[in-house]
Amino acid sequence: MEYDVADLRLADKGLKRIEWAGQFMPVLAHIEARFSKERPLRGIRVSACLHVTTETANLLRALKAGGAQVALCASNPLSTQDDVAASLVKHLRVPVFARRGEDRRTYYKHIQSALEIRPHITMDDGADTISVLHGERTDLLPGVIAGTEETTTGVVRLRRMEEKGVLRYPIIAVNDADTKHLFDNRYGTGQSTLDGLIRATNVLLAGRQVVVSGYGWCGRGVATRAQGMGSHVIVTEVDPVRALEAVMDGFRVMPMGEAVRVGEVFITVTGNTQVLRREHLQRMRDGAILCNAGHFNVEIDLKGLRSLAKKRRTVREHVEEFTLRNGRRLHLLAEGRLVNLAAAEGHPASVMDMSFANQALSVQYAVQHAHRLANRVYPVPKAVDVQVARLKLTSMGVKIDSLTAEQQRYLRSWESGT
Ligand SMILES: NC(=O)c1ccc[n+]([C@@H]2O[C@H](COP(=O)([O-])OP(=O)(O)OC[C@H]3O[C@@H](n4cnc5c(N)ncnc54)[C@H](O)[C@@H]3O)[C@@H](O)[C@H]2O)c1
Repeated sequence: MEYDVADLRLADKGLKRIEWAGQFMPVLAHIEARFSKERPLRGIRVSACLHVTTETANLLRALKAGGAQVALCASNPLSTQDDVAASLVKHLRVPVFARRGEDRRTYYKHIQSALEIRPHITMDDGADTISVLHGERTDLLPGVIAGTEETTTGVVRLRRMEEKGVLRYPIIAVNDADTKHLFDNRYGTGQSTLDGLIRATNVLLAGRQVVVSGYGWCGRGVATRAQGMGSHVIVTEVDPVRALEAVMDGFRVMPMGEAVRVGEVFITVTGNTQVLRREHLQRMRDGAILCNAGHFNVEIDLKGLRSLAKKRRTVREHVEEFTLRNGRRLHLLAEGRLVNLAAAEGHPASVMDMSFANQALSVQYAVQHAHRLANRVYPVPKAVDVQVARLKLTSMGVKIDSLTAEQQRYLRSWESGT
């Protein structure tokens, strides 16, 4: 079996951490138990390009239990947990191609390696595998029946491909399931982004001026969690509806040009490019901390930052200090990459439980229905979403009411009013 991981000796440590995460993933465990009986993925080859974390390891175990053959590469050069990569190779016999801190060339080489199994299904987090398949590896396209996409940025890229008529196989947009983005993006990113910020810097959030750019699902989570820690949170937005929502949720909203004068910590989470630009960086306060939780490292103008600096040095793990020519120091975390995955461990397992339950069930759905799907981006079937929510509630010991026959009739009718 071919693989490329940093150090196989880390495998046993990785296994313990995978098992630790597994205990918080009861929905996925339920699916895994069913998969091992029914084997719905027998004979299916899956190339997964996901963050190599303990939760991903549990997902791959479920897919293997379902009969799939799986290969894995990283969806970000800085998010790989090397002990997990080693354990996947040693204990689960999964070919893994991922080393934390790999350069861009290796990152893409690893995507190519994970495609060597000639996948029927691709699983992406950011659409990099799909982009390679539609570029350099079109020879593999005839064998691919469908793919899944985990994150907002990936879904946005894939919708553009669909619109331009270049998408060559159907995709299930896992991100868009309610039991994914309402929880993973909001509570997962909310908590783990602050976790990454704190682990990297140990700053006190109470009383600090924190600027959150983007009030989407992730931004809402980050802003409310930072507020809960006592920060004075400022939101920047470009969408008037989202901006209004932020105002009514109690945040100060202003353009970045104004926020830079007050902000002490800046967190970008927009999925857009060049949110913090040279003109902003120049005017920030001395000691400002910059980090990003959006998918790609394009939200902070890294080139601009480098060009403004007269001196650069690493002052702590994951913290680079840039001394600008105006004498002010700016601190960039995790090279502007996803701070929650690079400087912490990513989302807690209990929220990834739902995201990856959607992944596992979407793969099963794709295998069963791909022949009827066009080359488009599809939502996760509503029934899957509801099933994931029900299983999660059951695992938490929470019961809910169900509609009475009279209520069902009432909701179906239009005749009765006051
Ligand atoms: N760090 C993680 O673990 C993690 C988890 C889930 C999603 N993500 C990524 O986070 C990003 C955001 O995801 P989301 O689900 O919140 O998306 P979303 O579409 O719900 O929200 C993005 C928001 O950013 C706003 N925005 C766009 N350009 C802006 C700009 N220049 N300035 C201010 N606001 C701007 C948009 O108006 C929108 O409201 C994506 O890249 C997504 O892939 C990261």
